[in-house]
This record gives sequence, structure tokens and C-alpha cells, in this order.
Amino acid sequence: MEEYFAFPGRHAVHQIAGLLQEEDFETLFNLVGQIVGALMSESYRRKHVNLSAHLDPSVDEDADEEPDERMRRRPYFEVLIVDDLSQSQQRQQRQNLVDLRREEDGFTYEPVFVHSFEDALIAVLFNQAIQSVVIRFGFRLHSNHNMPVLQRYLNQAQHGDIDDLEPQDYGIVLADIIASVRPELDLFLVTDQAVEDIAGRVGAACRRVFYNREDFLELHTNILRGIDSRYETPFFNALKHYSKQPTGVFHAMPISRGKSIAKSHWIKDMGEFYGMNIFMAETSATSGGLDSLLEPHGPIKKAQELAARAFGSRQTFFATNGTSTCNKIVVQALVRPGDIVLVDRDCHKSHHYGLVLTGAEAIYLDSYPLHEYSMYGAVPLRDIKRNLLELRKAGKLDRVKMLLLTNCTFDGIVYNVERFMEECLAIKPDLVFLWDEAWFGFARFGPTYRTRTGMHAAETLRKKYRSAEYRKLYASKQKQLAKIDPDDVEAHLGKHLYPDPDKVRIRVYTTQSTHKTLTALRQGSMIHMHDQDFSSKVEESFHEAYMTHTSTSPNYQILASLDVGRRQVELEGFELVQKQVEQAMILRQRIRTHPLLSKHFKVLTVGDMIPASHRQSGIESYYDPERGWNEIWDAWAGDEFCLDATRVTLFVGGTGLDGDSFKNEILMDKFGIQVNKTSRNTVLFMTNIGTTRSSIAYLIEVLVKIANELEEQAEDMSGPERKVQERKVHSLTYDLPPLPDFSRFHNAFRPDPDGTTPEGDMRSAYFLAYGEGECEYLGLTDGTLDTAMNAGREVVSATFVIPYPPGFPILVPGQVISAEIIEFLRNLDVKEIHGYRPDLGLRVFTEEALNNRL
Ligand SMILES: Cc1ncc(COP(=O)(O)O)c(C=O)c1O
Repeated sequence: MEEYFAFPGRHAVHQIAGLLQEEDFETLFNLVGQIVGALMSESYRRKHVNLSAHLDPSVDEDADEEPDERMRRRPYFEVLIVDDLSQSQQRQQRQNLVDLRREEDGFTYEPVFVHSFEDALIAVLFNQAIQSVVIRFGFRLHSNHNMPVLQRYLNQAQHGDIDDLEPQDYGIVLADIIASVRPELDLFLVTDQAVEDIAGRVGAACRRVFYNREDFLELHTNILRGIDSRYETPFFNALKHYSKQPTGVFHAMPISRGKSIAKSHWIKDMGEFYGMNIFMAETSATSGGLDSLLEPHGPIKKAQELAARAFGSRQTFFATNGTSTCNKIVVQALVRPGDIVLVDRDCHKSHHYGLVLTGAEAIYLDSYPLHEYSMYGAVPLRDIKRNLLELRKAGKLDRVKMLLLTNCTFDGIVYNVERFMEECLAIKPDLVFLWDEAWFGFARFGPTYRTRTGMHAAETLRKKYRSAEYRKLYASKQKQLAKIDPDDVEAHLGKHLYPDPDKVRIRVYTTQSTHKTLTALRQGSMIHMHDQDFSSKVEESFHEAYMTHTSTSPNYQILASLDVGRRQVELEGFELVQKQVEQAMILRQRIRTHPLLSKHFKVLTVGDMIPASHRQSGIESYYDPERGWNEIWDAWAGDEFCLDATRVTLFVGGTGLDGDSFKNEILMDKFGIQVNKTSRNTVLFMTNIGTTRSSIAYLIEVLVKIANELEEQAEDMSGPERKVQERKVHSLTYDLPPLPDFSRFHNAFRPDPDGTTPEGDMRSAYFLAYGEGECEYLGLTDGTLDTAMNAGREVVSATFVIPYPPGFPILVPGQVISAEIIEFLRNLDVKEIHGYRPDLGLRVFTEEALNNRL
């Protein structure tokens, strides 16, 4: 692989091979020591490392450097140059570029040369330091290396046969493929053809097209400018600049510039803890170089535009109150009272509250249940289609406004976003999609993950429906479909449905808790939008909704962190996501192959979490001890649902402790390990871009300690104690309360109670409950609820009831309480159930209140 990296480089590796052959182990040891030292300390990123077989590897060349100096170092990156050059030509070209370096350059780089199309792809896939690619002409198609492993990666990236390409098209096609794998890279095309012709054909992928190969200065400045445009953080910079200006504070905010802290006798420790800069940057000013989030025209606007570029949206909006707020903004902006919204029942509570606010009629969609792990999966496409087709049959399609789904779910189930949108648009061509990607902000920066994000799928479908091939495909599919009665729901369910290219509108929104998966302060979130009808239909209402929910005092530190977080992902998101996946995979592998760990714990596999009917590729797991690593590309390309590998769900039922106790009593109290999601018999370990090898090692160490303790406990158990333990394990493994489906809305809250579709008006129920005489309490444990239900009364919830876990409403206002829901609530061994008072019971509507509405 060495030729795809600037350091240590091909020459050093050949030297090592030579020393090995000559059995000169002492020199070999020295050289390898220097290389390892430079890689570990990353000194090769700071200066040219002089590798010499005779240097002492233990000497740290940076030892005399001041810490400040280290901080000020210029960021380093690598530039890939695709050209068929000899070794000496490469050396000459490197020197030409090195000679152009200036003290004042913001960044420094080293070139990496490859000879062919295939080598270029391998380099951008594996060398995470590459930030810019210079594609020249006259390079070859195939690599000299015959490496089957790499070939699999190449096939994946190429999407087709490159052998049919004409040499003059190599550069353009290569640029397109690189842009699809790593869209953040700056691409420069150098051509010997008429630049004007080429420039018209390269599309948006290339930053610049140059004629001939000699103009190194222009290339050098363009390379640095490209990095600068990603490095730029307009709002963060504005805030830093502002904080240095001398100003007198005559507005609210005594904390601004730390004044109220510095003069205090009692809260000085706050200043010491946070450092003064944060207070220097605290202000309520929107002028003086700053900007207003509510009406951005300056650096916030620019920062949002850069975020739109990074996340592939048409427009991006920052939010400082988390995705909870983003969700409410989007729903309020797009949905009116009486519109129908299809929504997954186990979505975050902000959506349910959003629906109450807007007065939309909700159709709740059930996710497939995983009874054996007490968790839900995701909503099958077939169920969504069935609902839409039924609505069409009932003549209500014009009122259907939005489909709202969680991608990916807390547990890591990822939708086939493109396929879902395609088939829904075939039934309702202007359907709006809100994908709650609270947990999926990082996905844009992994090439495979990216394909399953709302923004990527929106772009892909938009291009697809514009093409002549699609029109042909649509016409032929329509011919087949014309034979089926449009009201025959069952017949349509079995078909892949295609939207009419003349009617379809791409209207996609995603909301993202940037703070959950990327670098941002808590509550830092973004709304991404790709809506063809935004300016004609939504802009005004979006503005109003944004005003409704956004504080007039948004936190500037959160906004600055979103700006910097965006810079990070544009420059190192690819690397961080790759490393994150790697850490999660290592964790899986270690648990599965360690005899003691695999005896007491089980990492849930793709097969455990996604039923075979939704997993067309047939993939069972990412790793298994017999076969090793499995390829995931087919699964991610086609399966209805995939599993996000960065989340590792551990079955802990075998320990005799439920998930919540395992989390609190063992992981947290004994070992200081934090996790935030459990089910009755599982805990979820979520990796993130900050997860280090050491933290994975610590987790493994802790699990081994726990497993050892379990072994010891088992040895010391008396006969009766063993029986108790076996009973606990049995209960956690087999006695699991079945997960209830959404029952239905009571007729009093169904605008069309005689209709065939189930939409319900939650807002009426929510506000009806404000009247005290309209509600009463029925006890879960004192028999009052059972008596009422046994007497045939339809008992209807007046509130949201949300147990943690699972963390979504098991009852919503206006919902009929079913026997399954009661059983589930009784069997829950969680302490926290919002909306339920154990001393009083469930808050329900009186029969009279319901009758008055019927
Ligand atoms: C799916 C989903 N959406 C939205 C949210 C709310 O996000 P935030 O905490 O950024 O308000 C959460 C929080 O856990 C969530 O799980």
C-alpha cells in the first residue's frame, strides 16, 4: 500500500525490503523504528522526515519544540497526482511544488503520485490524508498490482466496466467517480484537449480545469485556496474577532466579557473552570461583525451555506435547541390542520408534539417488533404503501402531506431511503418526506452510509427522474401496471412502483442532532432541505415556524461549534467515520472470539435485528468467527433495512440482570462507563467519531472483569441460589412481554369514523383533556381499569404515556387502550414512565366526554 501514501513512501519500503533480504537486522530495526516513531508522533505531517539507516530511532526530533509552537503548526494534507510519470519525473515535480512553499501558506502538503485510474481510486479510498486530486492526461487505466481484495473495493466504487472508456474520457470519468466516493475533495483536471470543451463536460465535480501541465504556481495556489474554502469558519471567526474588540457593555448579559464573574467574590471558580474566552465571546449583539440567527445576512448565513455544501442540501438551517426543535419547525412549516401525516409510532416525542401543534391527522405506522429483545425495528415499505394505497382508494390522497420516519433508529436500523421515497412518490408524487436523522449526521461522510441519507437520495432521485432512460423505464412499467385496477391494493403491493417523471416533485427534509454524532455543543442541530417547491410554497411558512420555535437569544457558542464541526467533517469526516466503523468492528470481533465474553454476552447481529424478509441480501452478520468479515455492500445497496455498524447492541440477559440494572449498577457505578439506551435484556454501546482504541480496550477489559465475576459467583452459588439465577436468566431471555402495536384512535377523535382509513385528530384529544371534568384516573393495579375494560368500556387515553426505555409514547391522546398495551405496561420493569402516576393510574377520558364528541 505504501505507494498510495506520501510517508514513508515507496523508496523507504524498498529500502526495508532490501535490508530484510540482506539480513541486516540492526539497520532494519533502526529504520523501522524511525518510521514507526514518525508515524506515531505524526512528525511527518510537520516537516520532512530524514530517514537514515544510521539515525537513532529513540531520538525525538520534536523534543526541543515549545508546546505553543506545536499548536501553531500548519495543518498537513496530501495531494494525489494522477499521471504516468517516471521516478525521476516524480521527484522533479515534487521539487517544483515544494519550491513554491511560502512561510505565509496556511497549510502544507506532500504529493502522492499514481500511474493509473485504478490506483487513483485505491488511493482516495485508503489514504485519508488526501484532500486534493490533480488528474492529468495520458495515465493508464489499470493498476500494475493484482490485488483481489482491492479489486472488490474498485468494483464497488466504479459501478461498471471501465474498459469501454475512451482514453480522452479517463480524466472526466475518474473525476466523477472520485466525487461520488469523496465529494469533499478538490479535483483539478489538467488536459491537453481544448479546455473550453472539457470544462463544459466535467460538471460540478471539478474545481478547475487547466490547460497543459506546466503551471505549478497556479496549481499550488488553487490547491491551497481549495483547502482554505473548507477550513473557513465564518461565524467562529467573527465571534473570535468580536471577542477581541474593546467594547463597553450597555446591554443585558452581565456575563458578557466575564464582567459579573471577574468582580464577584463568590463565583470566580466559574471563570477559572471555563477560561475567560468563552465569556469574551458571550454577547447578545447581532452587529459589530456578528449576525442574527433569526434574520441571517452575514457570517451565520455564510456558515449555513457552507454546511449546505458539506451535507449536500439545497439549504441548511442551524438550530440551537436540538433536533426536538428542528422537528417541530419542519412539521409546522409544512403541515396544516386537517392534513394527513404518516408517522412511525416509535419516533421521537418531538414529532408527536409537532402533530398536536399543527392539528394534523396522524396515521401511526408500526415498526416490526423484536419481541425477544424488547425493541422495535423500523416500518416496512409494504405497510407504508398499503396505507397510501388505501388513502388513494378512499379519495383522501390530496390531504396526505408528509411521511415522517426515523433514519436511522436509536438501535441502528437504517432505511433504504431511495427505494422508500421512490415507491411512495409513485402513489403520491408530491409527498413531503421528513427523515429524522438525529443519529445519522456522520453518515454523509462514509461513502456507503451516505447512500442511505435523505439528502443523497433526494439528489439521486432528482437526477434519475430527469433522465431519458428513466422515462423509458417508466413508460414500460406503466404499460404493465395499466392492466391492474388502481383500487386493487394487494396487486400493487407486490410491484415496485415508479413515479411519473412529469408529476414527481422532490421534497425532502432531514433533521440532524449534529451534537449527537459530530463535533458540536449540546443542542447544536441542523435542518437540511432539498425541496423543489421551497421557494414557491414553503419559504414563508418555514420562516414563521422557525420564528415560533427559535429563541431570540440563541447561544453563539453552539452556533460557532456547528460552524467548526462542519469544517472538521469537510476535512476529516471521511477518516473519522472510517475509524469509527473500525473501532466498532473490533469490538464485535473481540466479543465474539473471546471464550469468556462469548459465553456470557452476545452482540446482536444483522440477522438478529432485521428479519430475513427485510434483508434480501441474506447477510447474517458483519463478522463471524468461522468466516471472518462479510461484505456489506450488497446489503447496503439493496436491502430494505441495514444495520448501522457503529452501534453495538449487547445481549446481557445471560447475566441475570436486566438492561437498566446492568447499565446503572455495573457499567456506570462500578466502572464509569456511560451508555444511554437499554432494553429489557440489552444495552447499546454507541461508538462515535471520538471513540479511541483505548476506550474500546477499556470496554473489553471491563466486560472481561464482569464475565470473570459471573464465573466466580456461579462457582460459589448454593443449589437454591443457582435456581434463582436460572429463573432470572430464563425470565430475561424468554418471558418477554409482547410489544404492542398502535391500537387505534377512538371514534370521537376520528374525523371520518366510518371511513376505511385510520387517521386520528390528536390535537382535539390533547386539548379536550385540559377540561378537568373531562378526565378521570383508572388504576393499573387497583382493578379499576380492568373492571372498566371487562365491562366493555372503550377506555381512551387523555395523555401521552412514555416509558423510558423504550422512550416513545406507548399511548397518545385519543388512543384506545388495548389489553396488549395494559399487559406491556404492567410488565415493564422501568422506573420512569412519563404521563403515568402510579398513585393515581392512567389519565383517561370520561365516558361522558367521549359521548359528547360523538
Ligand atoms: C430520533 C430522535 N429524534 C430527535 C431527537 C431529539 O434530539 P435533540 O436531543 O437534539 O433535541 C432524539 C433524541 O434522542 C432522537 O432520538
